[in-house]
Amino acid sequence: MAAELRATLSWAHVVWADAERRVLVWNDRGELVCHVGLYLRRAKWADNDVLIGGVGGVITRQDSRKQGHAWTAIGMAVADMRDRAGADFVLLVCEPRNFAFYRGLGWRQFDGELFCEQPGGRVRFAAMTQFVFDLRLALPGGAIDLCGLPW
Ligand SMILES: CC(C)(COP(=O)(O)OP(=O)(O)OC[C@H]1O[C@@H](n2cnc3c(N)ncnc32)[C@H](O)[C@@H]1OP(=O)(O)O)[C@@H](O)C(=O)NCCC(=O)NCCS
Repeated sequence: MAAELRATLSWAHVVWADAERRVLVWNDRGELVCHVGLYLRRAKWADNDVLIGGVGGVITRQDSRKQGHAWTAIGMAVADMRDRAGADFVLLVCEPRNFAFYRGLGWRQFDGELFCEQPGGRVRFAAMTQFVFDLRLALPGGAIDLCGLPW
């Protein structure tokens, strides 16, 4: 992405965590068409320990969109967090243009606050909006602390 374009993005300054696992989708010509990064973090909600699954870096190749690739990949990511990792819930951050997409997949906007680490220390994350997919827990609100870099 060109530096000038990147500088216009609300999240251009954010330092992100690296994905720990990935869901990759190839088409029948062997071309990589979709990517979803997975994260797992022991973190805090209010004063409680929580195990948060994460989804980030969601992208489908431009010529392969609206064919259900992201739905499939995100569904696999959520199933992995629920069945393998035993996460309490899954969290992602996104821009308003994708709110309807994630709502259609069963995610909901989390109205509480999100804190994370950046190179300068602990900050409130405000560059994008947090969405959650409820698994063991359905947080009513409050403050989530990722205790590390965001995804
Ligand atoms: C958002 C994105 C990942 C969706 O990928 P995709 O593979 O085209 O998604 P799917 O085909 O699985 O979409 C499933 C459904 O969601 C719909 N949809 C896709 N993007 C949508 C959006 N932004 N708002 C509302 N609905 C959306 C599709 O039309 C489709 O609906 P349908 O089944 O009724 O046709 C893709 O548009 C993309 O890569 N965008 C640029 C990067 C980006 O914004 N990533 C998200 C970062 S949080």
